[in-house]
Amino acid sequence: MSGIQWPRVKQILDGAMERWKTEHGRDAKMRGAHEGRISWNTKEDLATSSPYDKVLIDPDKVGNGRSAETNLIRILRGPIGGYRRMPSGGPYLTREEIEEIATWIDAGMPD
Ligand code: HEM
Repeated sequence: MSGIQWPRVKQILDGAMERWKTEHGRDAKMRGAHEGRISWNTKEDLATSSPYDKVLIDPDKVGNGRSAETNLIRILRGPIGGYRRMPSGGPYLTREEIEEIATWIDAGMPD
């Protein structure tokens, strides 16, 4: 899989939040649930979001095959450090969607 660009990543994350809302019957309280900021209006917002002091995308892990070590990819795949898999309670991103985001990080997060 190659050629993944930022608009596709945003679409995947926005789509996941739509599915969460449908499943749970309310908007997610993202600000309240995540101590510290979490947002993805821009890719910089996403990368630098740091809920509970866990930066979502450590720059050292971008563009060099280490996307699996980022907190974003880790928490989309399963629980980390006492925090549940996200989005909390599901529905979770599909394996393919997570793979797309990982591919994008490994490609250096292209616009
Ligand atoms: C290191 C990254 C993250 C940490 C540490 C984290 C932590 C948390 C915590 C502590 C909660 C509240 C308790 C719970 O419902 O389990 C929460 C809720 C939630 N998180 Fe995360 N989260 C992270 C990333 C994400 C991401 C990337 C998404 C979306 C793709 C996400 C979506 C949600 C949703 C939808 C809720 C439920 C909010 C509500 O009930 O209104 N989280 N998260």
